[in-house]
Amino acid sequence: MKGIILSGGSGTRLSPLTKVTSKQLLPVYNKPMIMYPVETLLKAGIKDILIIIAPDHPGDYMKLLGSGKDFGARFTYEIQDKPEGLAQAFLIGADFIDNDSVCMILGDNIFEDDFSETIRNFKSGAHLFAKEVEDPERFGVVKFDENMKAVKIEEKPKEYLSNYAITGLYLYDNRVVEVAEQAKPSARGELEITELHNWYLKQGDIKVDIVNGEWVDAGTFESLFKANEIARKKHSLLNTKSTKYTKNIKECFNDIIAGV
Ligand code: G1P
Repeated sequence: MKGIILSGGSGTRLSPLTKVTSKQLLPVYNKPMIMYPVETLLKAGIKDILIIIAPDHPGDYMKLLGSGKDFGARFTYEIQDKPEGLAQAFLIGADFIDNDSVCMILGDNIFEDDFSETIRNFKSGAHLFAKEVEDPERFGVVKFDENMKAVKIEEKPKEYLSNYAITGLYLYDNRVVEVAEQAKPSARGELEITELHNWYLKQGDIKVDIVNGEWVDAGTFESLFKANEIARKKHSLLNTKSTKYTKNIKECFNDIIAGV
């Protein structure tokens, strides 16, 4: 399985922070935001990772993550010229994905849970993760039937559908590239990931799990603040020894992968 981290967009809602760097490089507790999705993929054993970035701060990403060698991985970079939708990642990444399945994570999504096992066990179809929220109109939303089977998915519904937001962690089989190629821009001019989900829903080939732990899309000041709190909580659970603060990035990653 290949990994994609989509780290595009201009982060206007976080200006002036995003005047000096990319949203996904802003600090979340003790490291830049993008390191959380990088860790999620590495922990699940995904070592071949495409990082899709906006054109503004490529050097900062290279400086932080480099070739991936330090993490025992291979990082490839592509530019998304304009924020034209999450589904565009599969067009930009078509050659990279090749004949594989793919796990995509948004560079600004911070999770408390560990998804390694689910990612490792993925076989086919689409596998999504939903979380109950108070402001579902901000997200892609899924409606479940009484057996918690997904029956409807809508992007930023104007009329109430449910409180379950689709989070920014997605698993797809190889058909996702073809489905993205058929997608048409929405009213907001973007290739919507929800269109791909509706295709898989129609095939009856979609699974939606509920996220137990906390989750945020750190695109606003409030959610960025919450992301810091989640990361701090996670960090203090993982690290009991103060010596961790003197370790370098590579050593911290090794600890995380080893589950220390
Ligand atoms: C995007 C997706 C949406 C998803 C959200 C998760 O929203 O379109 O379906 O729920 O990410 O963070 P956007 O960030 O484009 O508003």
